[in-house]
Amino acid sequence: MRWAVHVSALFSLLHCFRPAGSAAIPRDDECRKTKIAILGAGVAGITAAQALSNASVTDFLIVERNDYIGGRVRHTQFGVNPKTKVPYTVEMGANWVQGLGSKGGPENPIWTLAKRYGLNNTFSNESSILTYDQNGYEDYTDVLGAYEKVYGVVEQDAGYILTGNLQDTSMRAGLSTAGWKPKKDMRMQAAEWWAWDLETAQTPEESGFLYGITGYNLTFYQFSEENNYVWDQRGYNAFVIGESQTFLSANDKRLLLNTTVKSLAYSDQGVTVKTQDGCIKADYAIATFSVGVLQNDAVTFDPPLPRWKREAIDQFQMGTYTKIFYQFNEAFWDPNTQYFLYADPKVRGYYPVWQSLTGPGFLESSNIIFVTVVGNEAYRVEQQPDEKTKDEGLAVLRSMFPGKRVPEPVAFYYPRWSFEEMAFGSYSNWPVGMTLERHQNLRANVNRLYFAGEATSAQYYGFLQGAWFEGRAVGEKVVQMVNNQTNSTGNMTRYEVLHGTTALVEYTPENGWPASSLPNFGAGSEA
Ligand SMILES: Cc1cc2nc3c(=O)[nH]c(=O)nc-3n(C[C@H](O)[C@H](O)[C@H](O)COP(=O)(O)OP(=O)(O)OC[C@H]3O[C@@H](n4cnc5c(N)ncnc54)[C@H](O)[C@@H]3O)c2cc1C
Ligand SMILES: *[C@@H]1O[C@H](CO)[C@@H](O)[C@H](O)[C@H]1NC(C)=O
Ligand SMILES: *[C@@H]1O[C@H](CO)[C@@H](O)[C@H](O)[C@H]1NC(C)=O
Ligand SMILES: *[C@@H]1O[C@H](CO)[C@@H](O)[C@H](O)[C@H]1NC(C)=O
Ligand SMILES: *[C@@H]1O[C@H](CO)[C@@H](O)[C@H](O)[C@H]1NC(C)=O
Ligand SMILES: *[C@@H]1O[C@H](CO)[C@@H](O)[C@H](O)[C@H]1NC(C)=O
Ligand SMILES: *[C@@H]1O[C@H](CO)[C@@H](O)[C@H](O)[C@H]1NC(C)=O
Ligand SMILES: *[C@@H]1O[C@H](CO)[C@@H](O)[C@H](O)[C@H]1NC(C)=O
Ligand SMILES: *[C@@H]1O[C@H](CO)[C@@H](O)[C@H](O)[C@H]1NC(C)=O
Repeated sequence: MRWAVHVSALFSLLHCFRPAGSAAIPRDDECRKTKIAILGAGVAGITAAQALSNASVTDFLIVERNDYIGGRVRHTQFGVNPKTKVPYTVEMGANWVQGLGSKGGPENPIWTLAKRYGLNNTFSNESSILTYDQNGYEDYTDVLGAYEKVYGVVEQDAGYILTGNLQDTSMRAGLSTAGWKPKKDMRMQAAEWWAWDLETAQTPEESGFLYGITGYNLTFYQFSEENNYVWDQRGYNAFVIGESQTFLSANDKRLLLNTTVKSLAYSDQGVTVKTQDGCIKADYAIATFSVGVLQNDAVTFDPPLPRWKREAIDQFQMGTYTKIFYQFNEAFWDPNTQYFLYADPKVRGYYPVWQSLTGPGFLESSNIIFVTVVGNEAYRVEQQPDEKTKDEGLAVLRSMFPGKRVPEPVAFYYPRWSFEEMAFGSYSNWPVGMTLERHQNLRANVNRLYFAGEATSAQYYGFLQGAWFEGRAVGEKVVQMVNNQTNSTGNMTRYEVLHGTTALVEYTPENGWPASSLPNFGAGSEA
């Protein structure tokens, strides 16, 4: 790691370490001092630090438990290139740029950065799909078309909830009212999984209706409907590292890798950060931990977070999205098709979407295919041994391709996001019954402790662009505070009493709603 900082050396240099054998917590006057402690070096943390640097605020520290920059933008080596014998890089986490942008319209900042760093990527063609069930190939693409048609009604219905300040419901209810009732039709279930669960990592039952649709509109209609798959062999996080190098020098002492935050003591005077081997006393802190980390009490807060904050953390949800990679010694599937959808006769979401990387524009002739599971199926496979998962997937492939010999793979791997202590899940999804008001409570600061990350984005939760926008917003906010450029107390809008719905006049930038989700996509409130 080019940016490696020897944490222990750094701490001893600054007399901020716990002497060997001593269990004593360091006294505050022994802590390393900084203006702003940025907790996490994912997209939100790095973007917040860049916003500070852009405003010439340079007295900050970035504290990160991993030994790399990027957080949930994370890759690994998998299999080998049959020709060169070099291992492939595959993404365990974020993989697509979702919603690119159109001429004259706003551009997804992640797409801007993907272009800036020349990330190799290829358009994911969702029409390049073949459909299967337990008896092999069966063309039910018409069912995919039927879902699309109903979805056109569903998104308008969500628009009425928004503009009428009506009571929200679940995506399941929204689909049902529009006439989509898959019940035990496993092809309809597969089509629905492909269109909904693969994006949100949760079921329509678990997903909030209104904000599920606004999220889709703001990314895929405001920017564009394209998803581009990043297969760059440096890893997708090359863009995050690239951005960090715009303000961090090699071996910059402001980046503390391998440093785990254990507790945060916060007040109107500042924030004291205790790590596994030291402490930092900051005027302000920006926590970019995932909702999963916050829900699992992986970091303790002193005083405990107020009730309005805890309730918001407890209600927002993390989905789990697990990519299971297979490399074979030959491709027994059509190498010119990108997606293979499988409808299991019994279990919805059982090894449902297989994606080939061996075709043109991807890891060509790699003979790599991966299958994605989410939600309960992700928890199930993450709890069982590799061997069992590998065999289950092979059995599915054998029923999809009955005429083909499906051999043992030459390489097999999958990450276990639900166990990863850096995140405890993959990305957030808007649950049933959460209003914009309550979501604002997830975003809002408590005293001098600020929050940012994909989940604090009301408009792009779950996506990289959510982490980017929120990182920038909180960075700019803290700049105003430290530079006395504001008469504000620093307290962001929060709702200690909730109302069950969110009035149209509350769809404002202060509540995390800078753009409209309605067809004109104008700036400002929905009104
Ligand atoms: C499997 C998967 C697939 C995805 N696919 C896509 C996709 O295709 N497109 C897309 O746009 N988005 C996708 N996402 C979502 C995307 O990865 C996230 O939205 C984004 O990376 C979140 O950035 P963040 O900065 O908010 O959080 P993180 O990246 O989680 O950054 C937070 C950082 O805090 C660190 N941290 C946590 N706890 C501590 C602690 N106690 N002490 C110190 N540091 C700590 C973590 O290690 C991490 O580096 C995917 C995510 C996953 C997991
Ligand atoms: C972080 O820890 C890992 C594993 O213990 C080690 O290999 C690596 O060198 C460390 N990196 C830094 C920057 O300290
Ligand atoms: C910082 O400034 C650079 C150069 O203008 C810009 O590209 C980048 O987006 C800015 N970063 C943030 C977080 O605003
Ligand atoms: C996507 O795939 C479909 C079906 O194979 C094909 O007709 C179409 O031309 C492809 N689109 C692009 C942009 O490659
Ligand atoms: C989403 O976009 C569609 C199509 O433009 C629109 O009809 C609908 O009202 C929008 N829904 C929401 C909730 O913004
Ligand atoms: C990007 O793709 C080009 C063309 O296929 C290839 O030559 C190059 O090595 C790739 N770069 C990376 C970093 O993957
Ligand atoms: C800001 O909110 C905090 C609680 O998060 C409270 O203690 C403080 O008094 C508030 N400050 C002002 C000026 O309202
Ligand atoms: C902001 O105001 C505080 C208190 O009034 C003062 O101590 C500090 O120096 C000021 N900071 C800047 C950057 O002007
Ligand atoms: C703060 O308030 C004073 C007095 O009302 C005003 O003159 C000044 O412009 C305000 N500053 C900012 C940054 O809003």
